[in-house]
Amino acid sequence: MVEKKKTKAKAHKKTAETTAGKERYVPPIETSRRRDDEQEDRVRRMAIFTIEPPQRKLADLVIPDATREQLHSLLTRIRYQHVLYDDFGLRDIDPYGGRTAINLYGPPGTGKTFAAEAIAHELGMGLLRVNYSEIESKFVGETPKNIQAAFARAQAENALLFFDEADSILGKRLTNISQSTDHAVNVSRSVMLMALDRFSGVAVFATNLASNYDTAFVRRILGHVEMPLPNAAARRQLWQAQIPARLPADLTEKDWARLVRETEGLAGGDILNSVVLAAATAIQREGPACRVGVEDFSAAVAAAKKAKREIGVARKRRG
Ligand SMILES: Nc1ncnc2c1ncn2[C@@H]1O[C@H](COP(=O)(O)OP(=O)(O)OP(=O)(O)O)[C@@H](O)[C@H]1O
Ligand SMILES: [Mg+2]
Repeated sequence: MVEKKKTKAKAHKKTAETTAGKERYVPPIETSRRRDDEQEDRVRRMAIFTIEPPQRKLADLVIPDATREQLHSLLTRIRYQHVLYDDFGLRDIDPYGGRTAINLYGPPGTGKTFAAEAIAHELGMGLLRVNYSEIESKFVGETPKNIQAAFARAQAENALLFFDEADSILGKRLTNISQSTDHAVNVSRSVMLMALDRFSGVAVFATNLASNYDTAFVRRILGHVEMPLPNAAARRQLWQAQIPARLPADLTEKDWARLVRETEGLAGGDILNSVVLAAATAIQREGPACRVGVEDFSAAVAAAKKAKREIGVARKRRG
C-alpha cells in the first residue's frame, strides 16, 4: 500500500518540470496523447469539406428589386460589421447583435443555392457547402463533431459557411424525447446553436421549410430573405437568360410571351429543366443539326407542370 502511494507521488512529480524556478504543468502522457488524437480527428474531419470558388454572380440572380435591396443592405452590414459594432460602439447597446447569418427561404428552384454562391462571390469568399445528410453520422457523437469541424474549417479559411436544406439541422428541438436518436438530434441542434454563437464568419442557410425552424435559430439570424416564385417579368428574364445564344432556337415575340404565360407558378429551376429537356427532345428527333421550336419548349413545360402536380399530390397523401 505504502509502495503504491510512493509510485503515485513519483508519477505526479514527473508531470511537473521546473523552468527558471517556476513549476510548469506538463500533462500526463495519456492526456497529451488523447489531445493529439483529438486534434488529429478534428483535422481529418475538417478535411471532409471542400471550399469551392463561387461561380454565380448577384447581378445574374433574377429577384424582385425589394429583395435585391434587402440583400445589399445585409451585405453592407456584414462588410461593415467591425466598424459598426467595434468602432461605432454598437456592441455596447446591442451586445448580441453581432450576427452575420442570412437565411434564404422559398419554394424549390427559386434560386436559393444560386444566391448563396452569389453572396460568397460578392464578399470575395470561398464557399463551404454543408449538406446535413453528408455530416449526419450513424455513430453517436459524430454528427456534433462534424458540425464543429465545418465551422472550424470555414473560420480558418474565411470561407462562407453554407447550410443547404437547413431545415433538417435548424429544425425545432424535440420536446418529447422517446428514443436515443431523438436525444442525438437535440444534441446536434444545441451544438449548432453554440457553434453559431461563437462563429465570427459569415453563414448562409437555405430552406424551403422555414416554418420548421427552431425559434432559437431564428433569433440568431441577421436577415431572413424570401426567394419568391418569379412573376411574368422575371420569368421572361429567366427564359432569356437560360437559352444560350448558341442554342439553335427560333423564338418570335409571340413565342416568348406564350412561354412566359405557360410557366406561371413555376420556378427558375423548372424553366432551366424545360430548356434542357426541349433541346434533348429536338436532338433526339433531328440529330445535332436540329432546331428547337416553341412546341418543344411548351411540351417540356407541360411535363414539368405534370411532374410538379403529381409529386404535390403524392406529398399531400403522405402528409
Ligand atoms: N432567381 C433566379 N435567378 C437566376 N437563376 C435562377 C433563379 N432561380 C433559379 N434559377 C436557375 O435554376 C437553377 C436552380 O436553382 P437553385 O438550385 O438555386 O434553386 P433552389 O432554390 O436552391 O432550389 P431547391 O430548394 O430545390 O434547393 C439555378 O442554378 C439557376 O440556373
Ligand atoms: Mg438549393
